Amino acid sequence: GKGGYDHYMLKEINEQPTALGRSVRGRADPEAGTVDLDGFPPGTFEGIERVHLVAMGTSYHAAMYAESLLASRGVPARAFMASEYATAPPPAEDGTLVVAISQSGETADTIAAVRAASAERTLVVTNVVGSSLTRECDDALLVRAGPEIGVAATKSFSSQVATLSLLAERLRRDVVGSPSPDAAAFLSALTALPDQVQQVVESGAAERVADSFADSEAYFFIGRGPGHAVALEGALKFKEITYEHAEGFTAAELKHGPLALVTEDTPVFAVFDGRDGDTETLGNVQEIRARGGPVVAVASGDAPDVADAVDHVLPVPATHPDLVGVLANVQLQLVAYHAAKRRGRSIDKPRNLAKSVTV
Ligand code: F6R
Repeated sequence: GKGGYDHYMLKEINEQPTALGRSVRGRADPEAGTVDLDGFPPGTFEGIERVHLVAMGTSYHAAMYAESLLASRGVPARAFMASEYATAPPPAEDGTLVVAISQSGETADTIAAVRAASAERTLVVTNVVGSSLTRECDDALLVRAGPEIGVAATKSFSSQVATLSLLAERLRRDVVGSPSPDAAAFLSALTALPDQVQQVVESGAAERVADSFADSEAYFFIGRGPGHAVALEGALKFKEITYEHAEGFTAAELKHGPLALVTEDTPVFAVFDGRDGDTETLGNVQEIRARGGPVVAVASGDAPDVADAVDHVLPVPATHPDLVGVLANVQLQLVAYHAAKRRGRSIDKPRNLAKSVTV
C-alpha cells in the first residue's frame, strides 16, 4: 500500500534515505577509501579502457551523471541514449565496457543497445533481480532501491547514482591503477547522503516554490556537469506528471538560443553544485533575470552569493560536489510532485505513460 501517503510517488521520494542506505551499506569503506562490490573485487576491470553507458529516460540521466563521475576520475566514459546506440553502434573496440542502466531491466531500447554491443563486455546496473537485462549482460550490479510502483522514477534514480558512484571508484582503481585522490572524502559523503536526503524531504521549501509558480507558461532547468543531468531529470519529472512544458539545458546553452523563450512567466531552476562552474552559472542566471525570468537556485544553503542573486533558494545540505546533484534532484522531484498535485494530475499513472517500456 501507500503507507499513509497520498501517492506512491511521495512514498517513494520519502523512501530514498532507506533505499540509498541499502545501495551503499556494506559496499563503501570510507576510512580505507575503498569499495567492496560483491562479485566485482579489485582487478575485475583491469584491461578496460573506456566505458559506454546506455540507458533511456531517467536511467539515461543517471548515465550522464555517471559519465561526469567517471571522466573526473580519469576513466574515459560516454553516455548514449540506448536507442541511438542500437541504431548506430560505435565500432567494437577491445577494452570497451558497456554499462546498461535500467530500473526495470526490461526496457526494449536498452536491451537492443546491449544486443548491438554483443562483441563487448556488458554489465547491467538494475533494480530488478532476474530481469531480462540481467540475462542479456555478462554481469549485473543491483541498485537495491526496492520495488518502485510510481510511473515516475524517483528512488531508483538516487540509488542508481549511488551505485554508479561505487562502480566509478572500482573502475578508477582498476583502469587508472590507483584510487581517486579524494576517495575517502567521497565515500564518506556517500555514506552521509541518506541523512541529508532526509533533511531535504523534511524541509518544505519545494512545496512553497511549486505554489509560487502555479500559473507559469513553461519551466526551465539548467546546470553543468552532473547538474546538467539533474536539470534534464528535473524537467522530465516535471513534464511527466504536471503535463506542463518543461525543458532542461546546460547553463551555457541558454545564450545560444533557448534564452529567446525566457519571460517573466518562465521560471528557471538553476542547479549549483559548489564547483568552479557555479561562477559561470551565476552569470547565466543574471542573463535570465535581465530578461525578467524568475530564478530558483537549487544550492547548498551556505552559498551566500547565490542566494542574493536569485528569487528563491531550494537549499541542500553541504556535501561532496559530486553528490550535490542527488540532493538537488530530490528538491526537484518534490517541486514536480507538488506542482502536479496542485493541478490535480494522476501522479502515479500519468496519461500516455507506462512504468516499463517493453516495446
Ligand atoms: C521517467 C521514467 C522513464 C524510465 C525509462 C527507462 O520517470 O520512469 O523515463 O526511466 O523508461 O526505464 P528503465 O530504467 O526501467 O529502463
